[in-house]
Formats: sequence, C-alpha cells, structure tokens
Amino acid sequence: MVASSPSGQAKWSSKTAFILAATGSAVGLGNLWRFPTEAGTNGGGAFVLLYILCVVLIAAPLLLSETLIGRHGQRSTIGSAVHLARQSGASPAWSAMAVLGLIANTLILSFYCVVAGWVVYFIGTSGMGLFEAISGGNALGGAYPEQSPESIREMMPALFANPGLLIGMQSIFVILTILIVARGVKGGIEAAAVWLMPAFFFLLIGITIYAAITGDFARAVNFLFSPDFSRITEPGVMSSALGQAFFSLSLGGGAMIAYGAYASKDTNLGSTSGTIAFADTAVAIIAGLAIFPIVFSVGLQPDAGPTLMFQTLPTAFHLMPGGAIVAFGFFVLAFFAALTSSVSLLEISVGWITEKFGVSRSAAAWGMGLVIFVLGVLSALSFNILADQRPIPFIPGFENAGWFDAFDGITSKLFLPLSGLVTALFIGWVADKKIVNAETGLTGGALSMWRFLVAWLCPLAVTAILVLGMFPQLLG
Ligand code: PHE
Repeated sequence: MVASSPSGQAKWSSKTAFILAATGSAVGLGNLWRFPTEAGTNGGGAFVLLYILCVVLIAAPLLLSETLIGRHGQRSTIGSAVHLARQSGASPAWSAMAVLGLIANTLILSFYCVVAGWVVYFIGTSGMGLFEAISGGNALGGAYPEQSPESIREMMPALFANPGLLIGMQSIFVILTILIVARGVKGGIEAAAVWLMPAFFFLLIGITIYAAITGDFARAVNFLFSPDFSRITEPGVMSSALGQAFFSLSLGGGAMIAYGAYASKDTNLGSTSGTIAFADTAVAIIAGLAIFPIVFSVGLQPDAGPTLMFQTLPTAFHLMPGGAIVAFGFFVLAFFAALTSSVSLLEISVGWITEKFGVSRSAAAWGMGLVIFVLGVLSALSFNILADQRPIPFIPGFENAGWFDAFDGITSKLFLPLSGLVTALFIGWVADKKIVNAETGLTGGALSMWRFLVAWLCPLAVTAILVLGMFPQLLG
C-alpha cells in the first residue's frame, strides 16, 4: 500500500520502465569491463560455465528475494528490510544485510566512477581519433590513424601516471551521476534508462556484428565456451565467478531492493527478475563475443586483466578497418551502461538518507556524491602516488592489493556474497512465508523450486565458496 509508505515513495511509470531501469542497473561496466577481464584471467570457458551456474542457481533467486523486499516495504533498502522483519515478528537486526549492502555499494560506486572516468577519457581520445580519420579522408579506417600501436598502448599508463587527469575524469562522471539522481526516480533515473538502454542495445548489436564479420569469431567462441575442466575446481575461479554474478546483477542488499521499492503491486516480480537476470547474462556473453574476436584477430592475448578494454581493444581497433568509428561507438556504449548503473548505486544511499533524515533528494545526492568522490580518489591515486599502500594486508588473499583492488575485491568477493547469504537466510527461513510467497508472483513447482534454492542452495553454496575463497588450502 503506497499510503503506508512513510516517504511517499515514487513509482516507475510502467512495468517496462522498471525492467529497463533494473536492467540498466545490472548491465554496466560489470558486463563490458569486469566480465571479460575475469573470464580472460580465469581461464575463459571454465569461468563462464561457473558464472552461468552461479547466476541461475544463486544470483537469480536472490534477485527475486531483493526486489520483493523492496516492493513489499516501499521504503529505502534498510527501511524495507526492517519493515519485513518486523511484520514477520523477527528482529530488525536482519536488516544487517541492507546495512552491509549500503556500505558495499558506496565503496563500489567510489571505484566505479574511477573506471567510468577512464571511459570518459577514451571517449575523448577515440573521438579525436575519429576526427583525424575523417579529416584524413579515411573515415572507415582504423582507430587513432596518427598513432602507432606502441603509442596507443601507452595511453593507459600515461593516464594512470597523471593523478590530476584521472581525478578530473572521475569527477565528471560523479557529477553526472549526482545530477541524474537529484532529479528523482521518474524524472532522472527512469528517463535516463529509457533513453540510454535502447541506445546501448543498438550499439552493442552493431559492434557484435562487426566483430563477427571482421574478427576471429571462432576462436572467441572456443575460448568462452570450451571449459578447461581442471580449472573449474579452483577456489579462486569459483569465488571470482560468484563475486562477478553478484556484482553484475547489482545484488548484495542494495540496488535491487531500492528499485523494487518503486515497482507497482501488479508487477510480477518472479517473471521480471527472470527477464532482468537473463538480459544481464546475455549482455555479458554478447560483450565477450564482441570483444574477444577483435582481440584475437590481431594476435593479442585475452588475459590482459583490467587493461583489456583500455589497452588491448584500442590497439585492436587501430589495426582494423572501420576501427575509428567502432572504437568511438564502443566507449560511448560503455559510458551509457556505466551511467545507468552508477545512478542505481547512488540511489541506495540517497533513498535511505532522504527517508531517515528528511533532507532533500538533491542535498542527499550532492552530499553522498562528495563522500564517494573522496573515497574514489584513493582508488585513483592507487595507480600512482599511493601505489605502494596495502590497506587490508590482514585479509587472506588481499596481502598485495592496493586501494583499487582492495575496494573491488573486498566488495564483490566478500561483502556482496555475505549480504546475499543473510538475505537468503532471512527470506528462506525467517520472513513470513505468506507475505513472501505472495510477493513473488510464483506458484506451484516454480515457487517450490525458488524456495528450495533460496533456503538451501544459496546459503550452502555461498558459504562454501566464501570459505574456500578465503582458505584455498582447504581443497589441498
Ligand atoms: N551491476 C553493475 C554492473 O554490472 C554494477 C552494480 C553493482 C550496480 C552493484 C549496482 C549495484 O556494472
């Protein structure tokens, strides 16, 4: 009941708007930058197979759990979790997963804006390259016509070595995110998603067709879909796949609760959650099928890590016909995807602050934006001035991680799964079954299956992967 909502929550204008906004949150740098990076460094097919299993068996059921907490509560993430706990006669301490989620998502947004800043920078460089190509009379030529492959590879390290430029690009992206969130749910977030997501899909299909025609498609298919089974049991690969599933579906006690809260009562959450999970996974795989053929066709390696998108790809675009246009299109695409995700990350804390402290949306957005910017500066500086700092050496697996890797790793491999674990226990065992079942929109076998996955499989699998990820020696 909207009337019972203390903050008079806004609503999406339609079910389609909800699906576009939630898919916009899910589809982001996680699909375009993180998924290829993780697949490339974790053995390709083995990772992809584990990733799909994690999405179907763990993440998608949790996606439904989170959207239903939000939709039932019609409040902020924490407010909705407290509300459902109280109605179920349980301790409000169960909202711990939303508190953890708020912290995790704030940390994620801080480094997310840094990476999105690289995207902004590469829109600039590839845009200049396109201009050079056009004015040189070769609009259909390769990217960066005036440069050599070596100087293209140097663009990323040169950006990393320049703290002022990194922070400048990061702040452009932070400000854009704040401006959209400050305009509100309908006027800002929904409006952005409704324009940017279709544009994103259009560009993605175009680039994938280009990659299939000009790139080494067969090798990419082989790389992504023929698993090296010896790597499937590696704890590192398992925890990376689980972390990626949480990250990519915007799970872990944040965005999906927040966006679920704006869904109307007649939206079937079971089927919409399935649509969102499917769309996000399809985009990740299509992005892989767009990126790897291009990488392979010019003889480059898939395991470059985080620089794959910013060093390997631009070099490949340089060598390919039509690369000038495609490079620019690709970074614009990444930018659109990143923006519809960053707004969801900011909305989590803004929704809570406006509800809790009664401040205006715009004040909350600018205030949190500042916090996120300052935290992000630590990530930006970890590529140069603070390169030697190791903030969390006491956590197994993070001995050598700088600020950026620490924020990224600890949130996706630890905080998000932990929050998901609490959510699974809460929804599977504690929350009022009648309320929960009715909110899902599922019936019969689908409902029983979902309940089994949330109550049993999610908690057991997430715990096992968390423990193995921290103590890989347990597997011998
Ligand atoms: N899912 C987004 C992406 O793939 C990132 C994100 C994580 C957004 C958590 C919201 C919450 O880029």
